[in-house]
Amino acid sequence: MALIEVTDLYKSFGDVRAVDGISFTVEEGIIFGFLGPNGAGKTTTIRILVTLAEQTSGTAIVGGIDVAANPRGVRNRVGYAAQATGIDRDLTGKENLILQGRLHGLAKAEAQREADAILEVISLSEVADRRAGTYSGGMARRLDLGQALIHRPNVLFLDEPTTGLDPQNRHAMWTYLRKLNDDGMTIFLTTQYLEEADELADTLAIIDNGRIVVEGSPTELKRGIGGDSVTLVPSSDGAADSLEVMATAMRALPKTNAVEKLAESVVVYLEDGGSRIAEIVRAIDATGVQLGRLELAEPSLDQVFLKHTGARLRVEDVKPPSRMSRNRMRT
Ligand SMILES: Nc1ncnc2c1ncn2[C@@H]1O[C@H](COP(=O)(O)OP(=O)(O)OP(=O)(O)O)[C@@H](O)[C@H]1O
Ligand SMILES: [Mg+2]
Repeated sequence: MALIEVTDLYKSFGDVRAVDGISFTVEEGIIFGFLGPNGAGKTTTIRILVTLAEQTSGTAIVGGIDVAANPRGVRNRVGYAAQATGIDRDLTGKENLILQGRLHGLAKAEAQREADAILEVISLSEVADRRAGTYSGGMARRLDLGQALIHRPNVLFLDEPTTGLDPQNRHAMWTYLRKLNDDGMTIFLTTQYLEEADELADTLAIIDNGRIVVEGSPTELKRGIGGDSVTLVPSSDGAADSLEVMATAMRALPKTNAVEKLAESVVVYLEDGGSRIAEIVRAIDATGVQLGRLELAEPSLDQVFLKHTGARLRVEDVKPPSRMSRNRMRT
């Protein structure tokens, strides 16, 4: 059964079409990944689904309930951890959870019970009585996750749950999310990390400029790109039409699956790329174009993204501000 059904969803801010006509469904029990670069429309979509923003047009159904028609009904069923941390730094971890539980209408004793259980799940029992302001980035992010769980939602919405975390904390978060999913929780998460989408998502939608460019399981998507890729970049002092000359030579090559000419490179998709390098170099050589760089890659989500958007998604190289410094900036 589809737990989330989105049809022709649009959201504009003035002239900006943040969400530009997207449709997708999320089956119950899966981890659904929403992968895209900065400004793609991930947060805008998630905020509509958890009823914090209203769409310009289109429909979104969560757990059988229309988000626009019955936001309160949806809120009872969804847990949400925003992109920026929602914890109160002056309260302890446990107090944060209890407060959240009370906001969701739990009785005091019940909120305390749930808080203790969740602290166990997110491995924060030992620091439960410490001020959350003293938590590390990874601990703060886990507390965010805990807050989203306090009212036992059917589905969890997590907006970039690991952005700003170091690799060790990121992997720890993946373990918590997998465990929650194994216990039956449906998870909708946004991410800018290819590796995260590949590791966690059963189904993945790649979003760019407010549109879904491709959707499927990571395995399907990788299979769909047509084998290994060989990226060819002409040397910088080459002739202006080098790319065209290279593309023509590659199109003449037998047994390739596709040849694409991009802004600064030509990409050849073919099976068993490693055994074809010498042949490719010879063919380029014969055209007289000087090759600047050659790169062989196995199918990866990086390649999938490149193929479907013509751009690279390389946020792994960018260091986002730490959560604590972002907090300081806001206060
Ligand atoms: N309240 C707003 N007012 C005006 N423009 C907005 C508003 N919220 C979002 N936008 C614009 O909508 C587009 C999508 O933004 P959104 O925050 O959904 O992207 P995102 O995929 O979450 O990006 P990031 O990875 O940086 O968090 C961007 O161009 C953004 O500038
Ligand atoms: Mg965002």
